[in-house]
Amino acid sequence: MRTSLLRSMESVRRSGSGSVPGQLLRRSFVFSASTPQRKVAILGAAGGIGQPLSLLMKLNPLVTHLSLYDIAGTPGVAADVSHINTPAEVKGFATEEQLGQALEGADIVIIPAGVPRKPGMTRDDLFNINAGIVKSLCTAIAKYCPHAIVNMISNPVNSTVPIASEVFKKAGTYDEKKLFGVTTLDVVRAKTFYAAKAKVPVAEVNVPVVGGHAGITILPLFSQATPATNALGDEDIKALTKRTQDGGTEVVEAKAGKGSATLSMAYAGAVFADACLKGLNGVPDIVECSFVQSTVTELPFFASKVRLGKNGVEEVLGLGSLSEFEKAGLESLKPELKSSIEKGIKFAQEN
Ligand code: LAC
Repeated sequence: MRTSLLRSMESVRRSGSGSVPGQLLRRSFVFSASTPQRKVAILGAAGGIGQPLSLLMKLNPLVTHLSLYDIAGTPGVAADVSHINTPAEVKGFATEEQLGQALEGADIVIIPAGVPRKPGMTRDDLFNINAGIVKSLCTAIAKYCPHAIVNMISNPVNSTVPIASEVFKKAGTYDEKKLFGVTTLDVVRAKTFYAAKAKVPVAEVNVPVVGGHAGITILPLFSQATPATNALGDEDIKALTKRTQDGGTEVVEAKAGKGSATLSMAYAGAVFADACLKGLNGVPDIVECSFVQSTVTELPFFASKVRLGKNGVEEVLGLGSLSEFEKAGLESLKPELKSSIEKGIKFAQEN
């Protein structure tokens, strides 16, 4: 196990293709001397998600500078990760005074900062603490790297993305093409659960997940899953949908007070950041689901498939055709998603 992981990491390093072990290995990208300089900053780098995410971004051959920021503990994480023999140059920044340096010149800022859930909590229960953290980090982004792409992981994503948009609007730096709520973990889960149930190879599976990133606002579109199967009945699809929606809670309960998904979240964050880097570098046809400013529904923000390009969002793709079950899911998620979006906007306007 350990040897095969090391071997695959070594082959990433040698060939310069792909990014992190696993799925990304198969998406080949030719690494050449003309590969652009790309700085990625991680805010909250010493936390449960931040540490494995820092590791995965250090393994990404598209990253030339990796900037690790947290209020505490970053020198250790940065020193540790910096010993890995991949090209990305690692710097750690530990105090609020150093936040500007951490952000200057960043092409992508990934934000996993904040507190995780404990059993019995919803993502919205994190609002009071994480909203303020996200607001102050976004204020710094507007000041020090106003053109960076922002990948928001801090929960509740359905509210923190609208908070970020308002902060950027106030600062006069808002570019809707550059603000993303990371919903990749919902896609990762939907793929894993579908593959197991449909008995198809997980590496070949694709499932769009739309809506938002909390409970019923997470809407996997299994009717569009590939490879298609007729082995699954309505009850199977219902169960898969529910498990995808409750995936985060499944981990929170299993960790029994020790936090929420960190390793799978870091993996998902690394997959999404890699897609953003490829888009920035001009690789064509990079499509991922993400929670973005949208006109796909009447809601101002919505997760759907997005084509990524040199300026961030190149195109927000529509929902495609939905089953009756998915149409009903779409209607029932709207009130909750709407109120989470409004809660974020209101917070940012009043604070
Ligand atoms: C989850 C959290 C990290 O989906 O939002 O597990």
